[in-house]
Amino acid sequence: MAASARSFVLRHTRLRPVPGLEEIRLHLADEVLPLWHAMQLETNDPDAALPYWAFAWSGGLAIGRYLREHPEVVAGRRVFDLASGSGLCAVAALRAGAATVTAADIDRFAAAAIELNAKANRQRIAVHLGDVLDDEPPDVDVVLAGDCWYDADLAARVLPWLQSVCDRGIDVLVGDPGRRYLPAAELVALATYDVRTTTELEDLDHKQGRVYRMRSAATPAQLDDGLPGG
Ligand SMILES: C[S@@+](CC[C@H](N)C(=O)[O-])C[C@H]1O[C@@H](n2cnc3c(N)ncnc32)[C@H](O)[C@@H]1O
Repeated sequence: MAASARSFVLRHTRLRPVPGLEEIRLHLADEVLPLWHAMQLETNDPDAALPYWAFAWSGGLAIGRYLREHPEVVAGRRVFDLASGSGLCAVAALRAGAATVTAADIDRFAAAAIELNAKANRQRIAVHLGDVLDDEPPDVDVVLAGDCWYDADLAARVLPWLQSVCDRGIDVLVGDPGRRYLPAAELVALATYDVRTTTELEDLDHKQGRVYRMRSAATPAQLDDGLPGG
């Protein structure tokens, strides 16, 4: 990954334990706006994306907690972490025993952060820098999607892609604090956690992070028992 993105991440974050998942350490920032301003200067782009990668979001925190409690969901399996940000879900999956993990994000700073965070946790994560939402589902067993439903345009593309993943028989776990574009009808709730987010962009320090399994279009709702792989 570009050395400049890596050194930018290192300059603007501090390696620290993740709240509620202290066994994981990530390069995290304290405040969004000064960092965003620094990114605008670094990239010479006033429309630079927000530095999502510098924070552990509620959806990812919930998935991390779920995988710690239910390592069997990913143990020995090939995992794909969509919209990986810091790589939190990818790191949590490897800690839970995943055989391989690929983390995908469209942001080159996220790609650099994922590599640094993999190294900080002594792990190997394959990083895919780019947008996979127009591609065929990846050849994996489980797809994780932490905090993807904060934007209408993104949600409108993530939903059909995750449905196509699910229809291939790949397990899909979604983590989310109840954001506006969460497609509740397609999801089966598995667990709820009180999570402490690391970004001041949230309205509350503590949020209810929920983990869901995506329902396959082939499975009638009344037959769906809410269990992973069910
Ligand atoms: C709110 S963050 C969530 C990060 C992480 N999953 C977590 O829960 O902490 C959303 C991430 O989605 C990424 N993203 C946005 N559009 C994307 C796309 N089309 N494909 C992959 N990642 C995307 C952003 O760059 C950002 O890193």
